[in-house]
Amino acid sequence: MILRNYLSNKGQNIDETIDLSAGTLAWNLRAKKRSRELEGFIDATIGSGCDNEGSLLTMPTLVEEFNNLSGNQLFRYSHLRGMSDFVHAWKKDTMKSFPNHLVEKADQYSTLPITSIGITGGLSITGEAFFNPGEALLVPNSRWGNVDNVFLKNQQLRGINYNLLDENGYLNFNDLSAQIKRASIEEKKLGIYLNFPNNPSGISPSFEQLEILKETLSGLKKPAIIILDDAYEGFVYEENVVDHSLFPHLVGLNENVIVAKIDGASKRYCAYGARLGLVTVGFGFEAEDKEKFQVRELLAKIARSTTSSPPRGIQEALLHIFTNEKKNEQIEKEKKHVFEVLKNRYLLIKKLSEEEESKILLPAKFNSGFFSYYLIKTHQSAVEIGSKLLERGLGIVPFVNNENGLNGIRVAYCSIADEDIPKAIDILYSTY
Ligand SMILES: Cc1ncc(COP(=O)(O)O)c(C=O)c1O
Repeated sequence: MILRNYLSNKGQNIDETIDLSAGTLAWNLRAKKRSRELEGFIDATIGSGCDNEGSLLTMPTLVEEFNNLSGNQLFRYSHLRGMSDFVHAWKKDTMKSFPNHLVEKADQYSTLPITSIGITGGLSITGEAFFNPGEALLVPNSRWGNVDNVFLKNQQLRGINYNLLDENGYLNFNDLSAQIKRASIEEKKLGIYLNFPNNPSGISPSFEQLEILKETLSGLKKPAIIILDDAYEGFVYEENVVDHSLFPHLVGLNENVIVAKIDGASKRYCAYGARLGLVTVGFGFEAEDKEKFQVRELLAKIARSTTSSPPRGIQEALLHIFTNEKKNEQIEKEKKHVFEVLKNRYLLIKKLSEEEESKILLPAKFNSGFFSYYLIKTHQSAVEIGSKLLERGLGIVPFVNNENGLNGIRVAYCSIADEDIPKAIDILYSTY
């Protein structure tokens, strides 16, 4: 059988476009293999929070709710747009992390969320709803590999790089602002992908930097759609850094700018495999209910014709928690615990990364999220260094972007036990 004869154009070309043997998943497999050979191997490849014994950090209240679900609650279909009570409760849950003075505006200017299959599913239906192949999407130099898979390779948007991270490892919005201004002259319509805390760099903007972005967006004269990938929202460990989604700051800013906020249970509730994402669309103007309804219906139709309805059990379990005062208090404590575990690791790895001297590494100014990130100062490739680190007992993911010269190493400290962090930094800083 010649398989090729049976395949669509996309199927025929998929080997050249989507590479499952590269990126995070592949480095995770290599790390797993190496950990079987080498005692004391430290696996810092995957972005899921783990406790100090190496088990997934979960929230006991959510696990218990899941255990108590009936067959009906687990296995009946969910409403395509998400269970109504759940999406209302999710919106409330999201908005409580916004600054008080922005909550009312954020609510007025936005739709109800609609559910998706994970955050990835949310990114995908949003891309399909708003963009045609060939349209421009500004993408950061430091970005999650699946951004390329979903938007640039699958949906065939035209990626335009902006340097979120400069060569000294600082975040700034100057290049993004310049690119937005340029694109607003050259393009008919513009997409902007933003992801904070950022994967892989672990960076979030300060309030001053946010003002630069707001000022640029306020002046935009062409239609623009901002895709806010809020996978890691809230995990911010430093003062004067925006510790919540940019959503409430960007809605109502300019009638030409639409903001799609994509978040989910994966990281917010440590429910990675539950595959629940949500998309909330915010407008630049005070949209009427009819318009909000229309946008949500549009996303529902795309979901219906692609990924279908979302998982039900996780919605039921979270809804029981959100609507029960005691359970709500419990899960808030558990969320805080997860935050504190990650913050402690952050503080330790940050301190060690800045104290130690490396011949080849320059730590980026990471301040949030699940990762620390190190630029390589020499001409060596991060992939090459990654292989050496693997040999010496540390699994990392190299993030290399040949188009814009980004060449660095991501360490997922979210999954390193506290006591292993000094050893991880030792290996990292003594390998070249
Ligand atoms: C920036 C970013 N967005 C989205 C996701 C995927 O989220 P989900 O597992 O809910 O699809 C990840 C996961 O690693 C991520 O790093």
